[in-house]
Amino acid sequence: MSEDESRRANGPDWDRYADEYQATHGDFLGNTGFVWGPEGLTEDQAGVLGDVAGRDVLELGSGAGQCSRWVRVHGGRSFGLDLSMRQLQHSLRIDEESEIAVPSVLATATAIPYADASFDVVFCSFGALQFIADIDLCVAEVARVLRPGGRFAFSITHPTRWSFPDDPSEAGLTATSSYWDRTPYVEIDDDSGQVAYVEHHRTLGDWVTVLAGHGFRIVALLEPEWPEEHDRVWGGWSRVRGRLTPGTAVFAADLG
Ligand SMILES: C[S@@+](CC[C@H](N)C(=O)[O-])C[C@H]1O[C@@H](n2cnc3c(N)ncnc32)[C@H](O)[C@@H]1O
Repeated sequence: MSEDESRRANGPDWDRYADEYQATHGDFLGNTGFVWGPEGLTEDQAGVLGDVAGRDVLELGSGAGQCSRWVRVHGGRSFGLDLSMRQLQHSLRIDEESEIAVPSVLATATAIPYADASFDVVFCSFGALQFIADIDLCVAEVARVLRPGGRFAFSITHPTRWSFPDDPSEAGLTATSSYWDRTPYVEIDDDSGQVAYVEHHRTLGDWVTVLAGHGFRIVALLEPEWPEEHDRVWGGWSRVRGRLTPGTAVFAADLG
């Protein structure tokens, strides 16, 4: 599954899904909230980006821009980037509702339309990364647009989850496939026979290798625990699974 095929499938898929995504998760995300994943770990709690005040910040896979708006509230100059026009239309809607605007571009995270060394921080909260086939190109792009010493922080589905069915119930606690099988997850449209959705898997070791290969030094790997009082189901994430296995990995890495 090439980068082109992944992008051609996932852009339209997110356009189709955006209204439902924002209707279902918008309240949990909050117009100016910054959540790293379904466990509800916030950037206020995690502090993964460092102090963003006065910093130039780019969000990859920014969706409706909730996280970038949090950065603006905290004094950073944040910008969004997303593959889906419909997600960006939701971002514009929330810009107007909240009166906090996040300038955003329609683009892919493998061809970032900014000059070299434009940003102090690049981040991605469950955004583009797991939809990208050519992760080497994406991380090279992140390194290119970051200033020396800049930070790259991102959350992804915890790689160990790949072994388990994407099911929030007990059925999602029995490993059924290999952690080391990098074959992407692909959905085919019944009517057209075309690829309609693609997700890519990397092991923890793969992430370390690609980050180190582009000059990044990993400074944190958070594996948020499921909070005792938290009872929200989001896709395959639930209390049933969350109290036993990690569902999210949050990396922070500095350039140089
Ligand atoms: C799960 S949503 C997360 C959005 C937002 N970060 C949030 O927390 O709600 C994933 C987002 O990544 C975007 N995306 C997928 N592939 C992308 C790519 N290659 N480049 C940029 N954005 C992409 C989708 O359009 C979607 O808005």
